[in-house]
Amino acid sequence: MLPPRFSPLLFAALLLALVGCSGQRSVTVIKLAHTLDQSHPVHLAMVYFGERLADKSGDTMRVELYSGGQLGSERECIELLQLGGLGMTKISSAALEGFAPEYRVFGLPYLFRDEAHRWAVLNGSVGRDVLLSAESRFLRGLCYYDAGTRNFYTVNRRVEKPEDLAGLKIRIQESQIALKMVRALGAAATPIAFAELYTALQQGVVDGAENNPPSFHLSRHYELCKYYVLDEHTAVPDVLLIGTHLWRTLTPQQQAWVQAAADESSVRQRELWATATAASLAAVKKAGVEVITPDKSLFRARVASMQAEVARDQPRVGALAQRVQETTP
Ligand code: GCU
Repeated sequence: MLPPRFSPLLFAALLLALVGCSGQRSVTVIKLAHTLDQSHPVHLAMVYFGERLADKSGDTMRVELYSGGQLGSERECIELLQLGGLGMTKISSAALEGFAPEYRVFGLPYLFRDEAHRWAVLNGSVGRDVLLSAESRFLRGLCYYDAGTRNFYTVNRRVEKPEDLAGLKIRIQESQIALKMVRALGAAATPIAFAELYTALQQGVVDGAENNPPSFHLSRHYELCKYYVLDEHTAVPDVLLIGTHLWRTLTPQQQAWVQAAADESSVRQRELWATATAASLAAVKKAGVEVITPDKSLFRARVASMQAEVARDQPRVGALAQRVQETTP
């Protein structure tokens, strides 16, 4: 998806919106928008990113954070980046699938052997190639944030094995890989923006969804969904993105500060993640959610052929999946 062409005049006006002046000194203000709650560990990592950037640049670069979908859904934020109307965003890698097919690899179910394997991939050559794969579409990935593993949750049907999902309407992200996976598990998949999901669950538009524990908890979906099954079907990372319209206006020194601050925020975020996951699981249990530990091999078996099918239909994604398998920590 490429944005329509726009005039140099509009482009200059949009860039001016990204850079402000404070007193005598010119300060570069970067607007960074995302859809998560302010107490989410991923939001806290972005706060840290801003602090590190201010520090490194001697306060000549500043990050302005817009949380909770204030500037739009993940797709809308990505489109704003492409147009130059927003400097940075944090999205789930699944949201990028329609913009850069390389990101589809991370949506494949049970792709990673364990956490050490996952981070060896994300911090290694596959991770880097994927981050840089969308530069020609005006999107440059800076780093990954841990988004743990995703698990199904349902309003009123207890799910312990794939058969229990039969006929349920499950909300998915805008991801063709998630669509394939949910169908393979026997449920009906409905793409809905994250910010609209609470109401969709409340009104019975869908019977359930899937996400990691902090997002399940902090979105308050647990108020409506009383079953959370730890099937850990995917480990889709979050991605910190900068628009190339902004990136190219930065000096090499500024680019280096931005990249280094992003890398440091990624390390900090991983430290925050484990604690946040445990705290979220404890909180939802306390609120009456039944957290179910299923036999994961039953879910894995249902989606076992997906990697080969995707490799057949989308060789670029297949080649990346192959490189993932060959990566060792
Ligand atoms: C995760 C991810 C978000 C995303 C959400 C979703 O919580 O961190 O960026 O919006 O999943 O399911 O849409």
